[in-house]
Amino acid sequence: MKGKNILFVKLLVLLVVAAVADKEILLQFKGNVTADPRGALASWNVAGNPCQDFTGVTCGDSGNVEKILIHGADLEGTLSSSLAGLRSLQILSLFGNRFSGGVPPEFSVMVTLRKVNLSRNELSGEVPTFLGDLPSLRLLDLGENSFSGEIPDSLFKSCFKMRFVSFSHNQLSGSIPTTISNCLDLVGFNFSFNNLSGGFPQQICSPMAISFISLGNNSLSGTVANKVSSCRSLEFLDLGSNYFSGETPFSLLSLANLSYLNASFNRFQGEMPEISSCGDQVKNIDVSWNDLSGAISPSIANCRGLRSLDLGFNRLTGAIPPEIGLLKSLSILRLESNTITGTIPPEIGEITLLQFLDLHNLQLSGEIPMSLSQCQFLLELDASGNKLQGGIPVALYNMTYLRHLDLHGNQLNGSIPSTLAHLIQLEFLDLSQNSLTGAIPSSLGNLSLLTHFNLSFNNLDGIIPYEPVIQQFGASAFSNNPLLCGTPLNNPCGESHQAKVLSITAIIAIVAAALIVTGVCVVIAMNVGAYRKKKDEPEILVSESTPSGSNGSNVIIGKLVLFSKSLPSKYEDWEAGTKALLDKDCLIGGGSIGTVYKTSFENGIIIAVKKLETLGRIRNQEEFEQEIGKLGSLKHSNLATFQGYYWSSTMQLMLSEFVHNGSLYNHLHEFNLFGSISGGRGELLWERRFKIAVGTAKALAYLHHECKPQILHLNIKSTNILLDENYEAKLSDYGLGKLLPILGSHELTKFHTAVGYVAPELASQSLRYSDKCDVYSFGVILLEIVTGRKPVQSLAAAAAKVLVLRDFVQKALQEGTSFDCFDRKLGGFLEMELVQVLKLGLLCTVDSPAKRPSMGEVVQLLESVKPNNSDICG
Ligand SMILES: *[C@@H]1O[C@H](CO)[C@@H](O)[C@H](O)[C@H]1NC(C)=O
Ligand SMILES: *[C@@H]1O[C@H](CO)[C@@H](O)[C@H](O)[C@H]1NC(C)=O
Ligand SMILES: *[C@@H]1O[C@H](CO)[C@@H](O)[C@H](O)[C@H]1NC(C)=O
Ligand SMILES: *[C@@H]1O[C@H](CO)[C@@H](O)[C@H](O)[C@H]1NC(C)=O
Ligand SMILES: *[C@@H]1O[C@H](CO)[C@@H](O)[C@H](O)[C@H]1NC(C)=O
Ligand SMILES: *[C@@H]1O[C@H](CO)[C@@H](O)[C@H](O)[C@H]1NC(C)=O
Ligand SMILES: *[C@@H]1O[C@H](CO)[C@@H](O)[C@H](O)[C@H]1NC(C)=O
Ligand SMILES: *[C@@H]1O[C@H](CO)[C@@H](O)[C@H](O)[C@H]1NC(C)=O
Ligand SMILES: *[C@@H]1O[C@H](CO)[C@@H](O)[C@H](O)[C@H]1NC(C)=O
Ligand SMILES: *[C@@H]1O[C@H](CO)[C@@H](O)[C@H](O)[C@H]1NC(C)=O
Repeated sequence: MKGKNILFVKLLVLLVVAAVADKEILLQFKGNVTADPRGALASWNVAGNPCQDFTGVTCGDSGNVEKILIHGADLEGTLSSSLAGLRSLQILSLFGNRFSGGVPPEFSVMVTLRKVNLSRNELSGEVPTFLGDLPSLRLLDLGENSFSGEIPDSLFKSCFKMRFVSFSHNQLSGSIPTTISNCLDLVGFNFSFNNLSGGFPQQICSPMAISFISLGNNSLSGTVANKVSSCRSLEFLDLGSNYFSGETPFSLLSLANLSYLNASFNRFQGEMPEISSCGDQVKNIDVSWNDLSGAISPSIANCRGLRSLDLGFNRLTGAIPPEIGLLKSLSILRLESNTITGTIPPEIGEITLLQFLDLHNLQLSGEIPMSLSQCQFLLELDASGNKLQGGIPVALYNMTYLRHLDLHGNQLNGSIPSTLAHLIQLEFLDLSQNSLTGAIPSSLGNLSLLTHFNLSFNNLDGIIPYEPVIQQFGASAFSNNPLLCGTPLNNPCGESHQAKVLSITAIIAIVAAALIVTGVCVVIAMNVGAYRKKKDEPEILVSESTPSGSNGSNVIIGKLVLFSKSLPSKYEDWEAGTKALLDKDCLIGGGSIGTVYKTSFENGIIIAVKKLETLGRIRNQEEFEQEIGKLGSLKHSNLATFQGYYWSSTMQLMLSEFVHNGSLYNHLHEFNLFGSISGGRGELLWERRFKIAVGTAKALAYLHHECKPQILHLNIKSTNILLDENYEAKLSDYGLGKLLPILGSHELTKFHTAVGYVAPELASQSLRYSDKCDVYSFGVILLEIVTGRKPVQSLAAAAAKVLVLRDFVQKALQEGTSFDCFDRKLGGFLEMELVQVLKLGLLCTVDSPAKRPSMGEVVQLLESVKPNNSDICG
C-alpha cells in the first residue's frame, strides 16, 4: 500500500517536472508574441499551471500539453521554435492571428503532431517540406497566408496519414505536385486562390476516398473530364476561375455523393449532355462564364435535389425546358446572357422555393407567365433585356419578399400595377425602356426601401406622384416619357390638367396600343361623344390606354381633328371604321416620312392615313397643328386633300383623301397591278399621260404661286402622283415642305430619298432649296411619263452601271434618235408632242436653278403643246 503511494508520488513529481518543462516552452512561445491586443495570453504566467490555467492549452492524462488552440486573437510576433520541445503536442491551431515569418525548421521533430492549422496568419516563405515527413500528420492548413514559391514535390513524398491539405489563399505558383497521388488516405485538398499553373493532376482520384477538391481561382489549364473517370467519392469539386478547356465534367453528376460542381469562369466547351442519372446529393451546379453551346438538356430535371443552377454567360440556345419546373428544391436559377429563345415556361411557377431568378439578356419573348407569382419567396427577379411583351402581371404582389425587380429593356405594355406597392421589401425597381402607359401609381410611394428606381423610356403619362420615395430619384428616373409632367421633371403639368378636365367631357377615346413598336396598330373606339369647334371642324379627343380593366383612368393625350365635313363625326362611325385603322393588312405604302394605311368606314367612305415616322422630332403640338391646319385649308382639284390629323406626342397621323387608282408609278412601272381596272399600263395612253402631267403641273403652280406663303413640295416623284378613277392626277405628300422646318432642315437629305428626282443643289451640302427644286423633280416626271423609264435604272447586264434618264434623253435628242426613247407601250401619240414634252423636261432639269422655268411657265408651255387638252376625256 505504502509502496504504491510512493510510486504515485514519484509519478506526480515526474508529471510536475514535465509540466514545468512545457510551461517553460509555452512562456517562451508567449515571449515571441509582440502584441496581444485581446489579452488572449494574459493567463499564461509563471505562477500558473499550464494544464489548468493557460487559456487555449489542453493537456493529456500524462500532464503533457497536447493541444494549443488560440483562434482569432490577433497575436503578433513569430512562431517560437521552442514549441518543438512539446513532446506530446498533437494539435497546433493558431487560426486567425498575425504571426509572421516562417514555420521554424525545428518543428520537424514534432512527430506527434496530428493537426497543424495555421490558416489566416501572415506567415510567408516557402511551404516547409519537412511537414510532409511528420508521420502522424493528418491535417495541414496553411491557408490565407503569404506563402510563395511552388508546392514542393517532396511534401507528398511519404505522405503517411495525410487526409486534408489546404494552401488556399496564398501566392503559390508552379504546378500541382503529381506526388499528391501518393497520399492514399487523402480525402481532400484546397489549393484555391493561388496562381498555380499547369494541368489538372492526372491520377487525382487514385486516393480512393478523395471527396473534396478545390482549385478555384488559379491559372490551371488543360482538360479535366478525361481525368476524373476514376473518381467515385467526390462530393465537392471547385474548378472555377481557371483556364480549363475541353468538355465540362458533367459526367461527375452521376456520382452518388457529388453535391457541388463549380466549373465557372473557364473555357469549357461543347453541349450539355443527357444527364441520364443524377446523384441524389447534387445541390450546386455552376458552369457559368464558359463557352457552352446547344440547348439546356431537359434531363437536368433528373438532379432532383438541385438548389442552385447557374448556366449564365454561355452560348446556350434553344428554349428553357419546362422540365425545369420539376426542380422543386431550386432556390437559385441563373440563365442570363445566353442566346436562349422562346418563352418563360409557366412551369417555373411550380418552383415554390425559388429565391433568385435571373433571365436577363436572353431573347425571351411572349408574356411573363402569371404563374410566376406563385414563387412567393422570390428575392430577385431579373428578366431585363429580353423581348417580353404584354403587361406586368398584377399578381406579382404575391412575391412579398422581392427585393430586386428588373424588367427593363423589354416590350412590356399596359400600366404599372399599383399592387407593386405591396412589395415593400423592394430595393431595386427598374421598368425602364418598355412601352408602359398610364399613370405612375402613387402607392409606389410606400416602397420606402428603394435605392434604385427607373421608369424612363416608356409612354407613361400624368403627374409624377409627389411622394418623397419616388421624387428622390430625380429626373433621370422619369425621362423620355413625353407625357409625364410635374417634378422632378422640368415639365409643368398645365396642359395635362386641361386634358384631364376635357377627359370628363371626353368625346372619343381610341385605344391605340403598342403602335409604334410593332407598326401594326389596332385602334378601337371606346368612348362616345363629339363636339365642334367654332371653326366648324369636328374635333375629337382621343386617348391611348389599356383596353380592359382600367375604366375611367383614360387620360386624354391625343387629339383627332377633322377638316372635312364629309367624314363621319359621330362616334359610332369611328367605332365601326377604325376597328383596324392602322392594320398591317391595310398598309398601302411607305412614304418618305411615314407609312400609309387605308381605312374604310361603314358608310363607304375610305381615307388614307399616314403615320408620320417623325416620332420624337415633332414635339411642338401647336406648331404642328398650325402647319397641318394650313395644309388642310388647301383646295385644288389636283391635290389629294387633307382631311384631318391626329396628334399625340408619340404618334401623329395625317388623314387624307383616298385615291382609288394607284399612283403614276404603279401604272408606268408595274405590270397588271391594276389590271382589273385598266388592263395594264397600256391603258395609260398619251392623252391620259399628258393630262396627268398638266394636272400635276397645275397643282404645283397652285402651291407655288397661289399659296401665301409659298408651299414647296420637295418630294415629287411618280409614287406621289395618285390617279383617280378618271386618271386625274392627285398630288399627295405635299405636306413635307411645311413639316421640314419643324423637323430641322438638316434632316432634309435623310428624308429625301427619292433617287433621281432630287435637284443637284439639294443633293449638295449647301441645301438652298427653292421652288426650282420642285421644277427639277417635275421635269424628271415629264421624262418618265414619255419614256416609261425610271429616273435612274441599273443596266441589267452590268449592275454597277446606271442609266440616268435625263442624260439618256439628252443624248437621244442630240443624236436625233428620240424615237428610241419613247415608251413602247405608248399608243395614239404625235411624235412632235412627245419631243416637245421631252424638251420641256430637259429644260426643267438644267443644272442651274435660275435657268429653269417657274411652275406657272411650265403650265403655260404644256398647254401650248396640246392646246385643247381639256377636250380629252378619261
Ligand atoms: C523568440 O524569443 C527569443 C527570446 O526573446 C529570441 O531569442 C528569439 O530570437 C525569438 N525567436 C524568433 C523567431 O523571433
Ligand atoms: C482551421 O481552423 C479554422 C478555425 O477553426 C477552421 O475554420 C478551418 O476549417 C480549419 N482548417 C481546416 C482545414 O480544418
Ligand atoms: C477552401 O478554400 C476556399 C477558398 O478560400 C474556402 O472558401 C473554403 O472554405 C476552403 N474550404 C476548406 C474546407 O478549407
Ligand atoms: C501567375 O502566373 C503566371 C505564369 O504562370 C504569371 O504570368 C502571372 O503574372 C502570375 N500572376 C500573379 C498575380 O502572380
Ligand atoms: C476569383 O475569380 C473571380 C472570377 O474570375 C473573380 O471575380 C474574383 O475576383 C477572383 N477572386 C480573387 C480573390 O482573385
Ligand atoms: C457516400 O457517402 C456515404 C456517407 O458519407 C458513404 O458511406 C459512402 O461510402 C459514400 N460513397 C462513396 C462512393 O464514396
Ligand atoms: C463558382 O466559382 C466562382 C469563381 O470561382 C464563384 O464566383 C462562384 O460564386 C462559385 N459558384 C458557386 C455556386 O459557389
Ligand atoms: C400566391 O402564392 C400562393 C402560394 O404559392 C399561391 O397558392 C397563389 O396562387 C399565389 N397567388 C397568385 C395570385 O398567384
Ligand atoms: C401605404 O400603405 C398604407 C397602409 O397599407 C396605405 O394606407 C397607404 O394608402 C399607402 N400609401 C400609398 C401612397 O399608397
Ligand atoms: C400589349 O401588347 C400585346 C401584344 O404585343 C397586345 O396584344 C396587347 O393588346 C397590348 N396591351 C395593351 C394594354 O396595350
